[in-house]
Amino acid sequence: MNAKKYLKLGALLGIAYLLNSFAVQSGLFTDAPRPVKLNDRIEHKVDSLLALMTIEEKVGQMTLFTSDWDVTGPTLRAGYKDDIKKGRVGAIFNAHTAAFTRDLQRIAVEETRLGIPLLFGYDVIHGYKTIFPIPLGESASWDMPAIEASARVAGLEAAVSGLHWTFAPMVDIARDPRWGRVAEGAGEDPYLGSVIAAARVKGFQGKDFDNADAVLACAKHYAAYGAAQAGRDYHTVDMSERVLRDVYLPPFKAAADAGAWTFMTSFNELDGVPATGNKFLLTDILRNEWGFPGFVVTDYTSINEMVPHGIVANEKDAGELSVLAGVDMDMQGAVYYAHLANLVKEGRVPESIVDNCVRRILRIKFMLGLFENPYRFSDTDREKRTIMAPAHLETARDVSRKSIVLLKNEKNTLPLSKSTKSIALIGPLADNKSELIGSWSAAGDSKQCVSLLEGVRTRFGTTTKINYAKGCDINKSDKSGFKAALAVAKSADVILVAVGEEAGMSGEAASRSSLGLPGVQEDLVRDLVATGKPVVVVLMNGRPLAIPWIADNASAILETWFLGTQAGNAIADVLAGDYNPSGKLPMTFPRNVGQVPVFYSMKNTGRPFDANSKYTSKYLDTPNTPQYPFGFGLSYTTFSYSGLKTSASSFRYGETLEVRVTLKNTGSRDGEEVAQLYVRDLVGSVTRPVRELKGFQKVFLKAGESKELVFQLTAKDLAFYNQKMRFRAEAGDFDLFAGGDSDAKLSVRVQLLE
Ligand code: NOJ
Repeated sequence: MNAKKYLKLGALLGIAYLLNSFAVQSGLFTDAPRPVKLNDRIEHKVDSLLALMTIEEKVGQMTLFTSDWDVTGPTLRAGYKDDIKKGRVGAIFNAHTAAFTRDLQRIAVEETRLGIPLLFGYDVIHGYKTIFPIPLGESASWDMPAIEASARVAGLEAAVSGLHWTFAPMVDIARDPRWGRVAEGAGEDPYLGSVIAAARVKGFQGKDFDNADAVLACAKHYAAYGAAQAGRDYHTVDMSERVLRDVYLPPFKAAADAGAWTFMTSFNELDGVPATGNKFLLTDILRNEWGFPGFVVTDYTSINEMVPHGIVANEKDAGELSVLAGVDMDMQGAVYYAHLANLVKEGRVPESIVDNCVRRILRIKFMLGLFENPYRFSDTDREKRTIMAPAHLETARDVSRKSIVLLKNEKNTLPLSKSTKSIALIGPLADNKSELIGSWSAAGDSKQCVSLLEGVRTRFGTTTKINYAKGCDINKSDKSGFKAALAVAKSADVILVAVGEEAGMSGEAASRSSLGLPGVQEDLVRDLVATGKPVVVVLMNGRPLAIPWIADNASAILETWFLGTQAGNAIADVLAGDYNPSGKLPMTFPRNVGQVPVFYSMKNTGRPFDANSKYTSKYLDTPNTPQYPFGFGLSYTTFSYSGLKTSASSFRYGETLEVRVTLKNTGSRDGEEVAQLYVRDLVGSVTRPVRELKGFQKVFLKAGESKELVFQLTAKDLAFYNQKMRFRAEAGDFDLFAGGDSDAKLSVRVQLLE
């Protein structure tokens, strides 16, 4: 570098430093773009290849079609193999296994003019063949190493099956449990959602792609899909830019910062503009503010869907809108395929824009090593050795038991006492495998799941009599099985009843308008409770349920979501006390559907609830409080919190405040607790939520042991988007709360000074 250039760079760095320190001093923070270092060698190869390509071949790279192997959307196209041969498709999804991907890859590499390898994508959401808990369930573990480990196994199994790319993690914040897709995400909170998003991206993508044992992550659905009106899938989203930035975008930013190479657009409109044609989201924020270097794919036919949305008159206009907004790849819609070359020829879309899209896609194909060896992910021997390896099943069992949330445990009904002589195992989900893998279970085979009955027999069978009766179906009205179930129940010391939802009642296009147990399951539980025996309700479901009667009347309740391949073993581990439950709810459980949306970080309102005053914010027929708050979960031991204090009563921008609290295991068993730290900004230039999660630690303590936990807070942790839509921490008073759920009572006040 010559002296002049050096001085210029120095001056720029100096200005950047000054701006940054000014920003810190004034409490202003920016979402700094992720620093990206592109590989010169790869860039050179991309440019050389691009120079050889016709416009049709370029559009081919921007086209993603499904194979006929699996169906994950409303349309199928005949003739995708022919399109591969013509170089008109650059990526395929819903095609997997080393053998099948190898066959398709051969067509692309050997039979097309330029031999550009295909990219293979698939919805590997919570495991490929070894199935882990549904993401919402796994999020209840609040255990980042476990979550990363599960995504790592999923990424590895997918990679050895010929896949390069998973359409995960789904990082949509969701606050309406009617929306079936809450099952796929990390729940309601932007902070928890962000750390989980990062853990999942790291797990899927591994260290690098050198050993072909990792897949590209795809943060989806960008953005705000989780706020669909009334929880109805694909419905309209309308929210302030502030809520978008404060609540819905942070997990996407975290995924981008963790290195996610791809993003998927969402089906919904946002503020009148469908996400797939939304330049504000795709270019202004994602590329310009965040510096995202990867490529953006649409969701399934979402370019075409801009016509019924009513923002364009026809698909050609839709293609123009989306490519100009910043969409690089068209999933299944064939809009780019049909129209993009003409849009360029007619001068409606500059070819340079197309070139940039193709560059971003080819760069990744080079990065994956596909030009050196297009088959490196498709190795049948490696596939055989790797899929469902014993270590993967162990990882699944570990994360599964960590995902279980103990919601109630009256009179220490659980763990089951060693003197239990007989167990009645009842319910439509007790001897069931088909539902255990939940929705979006990729190549998972439910027959390989351990059912609850199998898990319980293996764990207790030698010492305890186990009698099973189904009782009823999940979603039918027939009660003829109740009699046999009650007969079994009457002869047992304890009743375990497994009830919940079908796997297909959550996930895509699976919204519900009620949140109770479907069919006659609750009636079955009521009859079992009426026997007077202890009743342990084992819930299996894909969303928060409203179960007020069960909450009041069951002896114990275990929320087990859909735990996947190792479900039965993991639940048996918890029932027996071999594992002490440590899960905490990542999403509020309402008392009834009329409370929805109900989440912990609501606003106070001008008339907060006051039992003595009529004119306050409340319902006439139900409390404001939920059945179970966010962050809630019991253990077989108990924990106490004390001595909450801060390193200073006030702190300034640029300083770090230490927050200390003593956690004690006050029970008689060893156990883990998720200690949570919340803040409330008492006065803001815009109103602030009553609480916001700002930190948590999952801590193991022996019975009787205590530990002082230290959290660190900076002004940036207190920042939010102000009236001018600038991300700023405002001086003033803040209450900090520490405890085992979002209702934590222990608090201390601190002041942030200018
Ligand atoms: C539609 C879903 O919304 C998305 O999550 C999924 O990745 C695609 N279909 C592909 O299956």
